[in-house]
Amino acid sequence: MNSKGIDHSGLTFRRDYFGDLKAWQALVDLLKDTFDIDIGPLQQMGGPDSSSMPFGWFAADGRLGANLSAFAMPLVINGRTVNAASFQSGAVRPPWRGRGLYRDLTQKALAWCEEKGFETIVLYTDKPALYAPYGFHALPMHAYSGQAPVPVASGRPARTLDPSQPADLSLLQAALKRRVPVSETLAVVESTAMFLINTRLDPSVRLSFVEDSQAVIAWKMDGDRFILLDVVAQEVPTLAEIIGSLGLGPAVAEVLFRPDRLGWEGRAQTTGGSTRFMIRASDEITLDAPAMPSPMADF
Ligand SMILES: CC(C)(COP(=O)(O)OP(=O)(O)OC[C@H]1O[C@@H](n2cnc3c(N)ncnc32)[C@H](O)[C@@H]1OP(=O)(O)O)[C@@H](O)C(=O)NCCC(=O)NCCS
Repeated sequence: MNSKGIDHSGLTFRRDYFGDLKAWQALVDLLKDTFDIDIGPLQQMGGPDSSSMPFGWFAADGRLGANLSAFAMPLVINGRTVNAASFQSGAVRPPWRGRGLYRDLTQKALAWCEEKGFETIVLYTDKPALYAPYGFHALPMHAYSGQAPVPVASGRPARTLDPSQPADLSLLQAALKRRVPVSETLAVVESTAMFLINTRLDPSVRLSFVEDSQAVIAWKMDGDRFILLDVVAQEVPTLAEIIGSLGLGPAVAEVLFRPDRLGWEGRAQTTGGSTRFMIRASDEITLDAPAMPSPMADF
């Protein structure tokens, strides 16, 4: 095989295979074995994003040898709605690595995005070198932290939401459908499936529903530090109202997106970790202000 060739002997290519539950399970297994994450519960939470287009090479025994999925993920970037797609679930099982399968799937996914007219593609990776040859570049990610605001007492206290309960799941799904982007600088317009599965992938995320503002708050506490991951609402309440309705009095607040709608300003700080958020766009994109997409949109 030459350096740009592909060796797919013994494998069959399939795309758009999510309607086949055995093939879906093969993807669940691939991601469990590769990343130790379980996206199986997504099937009970409304299923994968309806725009999903998975590309995979399947072995004769039904195992998925290599996969890359694309799906629509409209974003707001610098105040403008961008018709973006994202890549996720990129993995090749060890026996089939080094044969050009991932390059093949990347090219197929890029061609699909072109065909569909997506102007931008985003992805998360710990291997940016894999995507740089295709014009992706890493956007620096910044969270905000600072002194927490004085809580504003609200009418009714927030209540805990449990997405494993059907009524709470419906409420959450409806809120995700009608949400506004949580920031004008960088945020998803809608990404229901990712939000829902992320509630399972990180059980330390707490979800609360504020009746008065009909807002769903995704948050954590770390000692006296309040960490805000996302706000799903038609009108985003201020940070002081959020903390007030949760009945908290933290010393420090950390917001994992740009807090331009929260009536509070913190200091931008680069996030640690090896994961990069990469973007590929026809025009070079630089953010108007330090920002990061909410971790609830992580995929
Ligand atoms: C990374 C991974 C997807 C590569 O799959 P693969 O089928 O072996 O890749 P290919 O043989 O198609 O190689 C594609 C290109 O990527 C390069 N590449 C392979 N592994 C790489 C790595 N770890 N880092 C950077 N580049 C890599 C190859 O050199 C090749 O370059 P070329 O097109 O210039 O020849 C596979 O090793 C894997 O599943 N790893 C664990 C999960 C993972 O990291 N997924 C991707 C991150 S989002």
